[in-house]
Amino acid sequence: MITLSASSEKALKKLYIKTYGCQMNVYDSERMADILKPHGYELTDNPDASDMIIMNTCHIREKATEKVYCELGRYKPIKKLREEDGKPFILAVAGCVGQAEGGEIVKRAPYVDIVLGPQSYHQLPEMIERAKRAFHARQENAHDQKKLKELKKDPIVYADFPVESKFDHLPQVSDNKRFSAFLTIQEGCDKFCTFCCVPYTRGAEYSRPVFDILEEAKRYIEAGAQEITLLGQNVNAYHGTSPTGSGEWGLAALCLELANLDGLKRIRYTTSHPKDMDEALIQAHGACEKLMPFLHLPVQSGSDRVLKLMNRKHTVSFYEDIIHRLRDANPDIGFSSDFIVGFPGETDKDFEQTIGLVERVSYGQAYSFSYSPRLGTPAAALEDQIPEAVKKERLYRLQSLLFAQQLAYNKSFIGRTIPVLFERYGKKPGQFLGKSPYMQSVHVLSNDDILGKIRWVSITDAFETSLQGEIIAEQCFLGG
Ligand code: SAH
Ligand code: SF4
Ligand code: F3S
Repeated sequence: MITLSASSEKALKKLYIKTYGCQMNVYDSERMADILKPHGYELTDNPDASDMIIMNTCHIREKATEKVYCELGRYKPIKKLREEDGKPFILAVAGCVGQAEGGEIVKRAPYVDIVLGPQSYHQLPEMIERAKRAFHARQENAHDQKKLKELKKDPIVYADFPVESKFDHLPQVSDNKRFSAFLTIQEGCDKFCTFCCVPYTRGAEYSRPVFDILEEAKRYIEAGAQEITLLGQNVNAYHGTSPTGSGEWGLAALCLELANLDGLKRIRYTTSHPKDMDEALIQAHGACEKLMPFLHLPVQSGSDRVLKLMNRKHTVSFYEDIIHRLRDANPDIGFSSDFIVGFPGETDKDFEQTIGLVERVSYGQAYSFSYSPRLGTPAAALEDQIPEAVKKERLYRLQSLLFAQQLAYNKSFIGRTIPVLFERYGKKPGQFLGKSPYMQSVHVLSNDDILGKIRWVSITDAFETSLQGEIIAEQCFLGG
């Protein structure tokens, strides 16, 4: 029997959320589920059995946007079937495509009920009420074509940047029962790299107050989180109001404060910009055991000329200097990065410089992409666009090198004993999957239920994307 929560007077409805893009969208999806819970919505992983679908979308590359329209076409018949039964079915497009495309989505896919940007999700309940009213109005006027046309003229699109922060409207309880939780501390970007749509989809930089972050972290820890990943499009640009309200704290101070929380074993943060990697944060990597020794620090290109065209606000040597200082602070630290190949005007020489940088730094992991022009960004209007075939060839070469480095990095762990936080069951009986401090997936076999536990593991084999090992001690250690 299904029991309703005390706060809900309505029948239980099923909510399906499909999440694309970065971890900030994962966090946002969880918050949207939290917001809708008191309104009677319970999560399901079956879109066919749902009463509402939210697509939480990503706009970073053209392919990501096209995927959204493809997927919307898949949901259209589900909505039609449900509505033929006389029940309202709500299809919502949230996230960065919602923000960037706004009303265009309803023009291209008129069966979409709600479009909302990432800063508006706290207004979802009000949007749902409007969508339900619109559904009933359509039902009542089913035979009046003129009236139906009239009704379509008022789509539910919330893609402004509201004055008040969505964070002020988050429910104070969360169902987040992850052993490794995401916590958004900063949102938006003022950097305006010329290839990137994020400053337009996520808006200006905003940092949450330290107090609110600590309270949210405590709730996650109480619910079982051992690890917290602090999120932000420019997370190391964080400058939130201090707990006393008298000044601002940077990311290093926040991490050190979080490290004082009992029960929290591991802290990570992503994504960082090289320009905001200050001395305090670099030193924290040497001083704070709970701060994990693995950093995602995107560089995009190894050519100063291209970095300038990209408006990255740093040079190659500035970036390498940070890598050296971080390695001095903690010789054990590993790195990942993002790369774009085929940025407009990128020559063979520029590309070779990227290869050179990768060889010098040596990454444990990395993401690399072909440049994808985004409408409205300055780089999309540059004349010297690179042919697809050249981009493909360069991407192949870069990825071959990065994969080889990743494999070598993982193999260097064979014979080492490292602490692993186990988060999931594996496919085989008795198999558990976890994360090393260096963001590698580690799998082991165990007779005990080690979910949510940190165990010391001796690494016996290594592959491109995972490590294999054996648990060597049953005690729980700190994750550093
Ligand atoms: N805030 C982060 C990353 C944001 S987007 C940073 O400053 O690095 C994640 C990655 O997507 C970027 O690092 C970049 O490598 C890639 N990306 C962004 N826009 C792109 C585009 N137009 N074409 C190809 N890759 C892009
Ligand atoms: Fe995009 Fe650059 Fe901002 Fe990162 S720093 S989100 S790449 S504009
Ligand atoms: Fe994509 Fe928006 Fe994140 S464009 S990468 S979902 S900030």
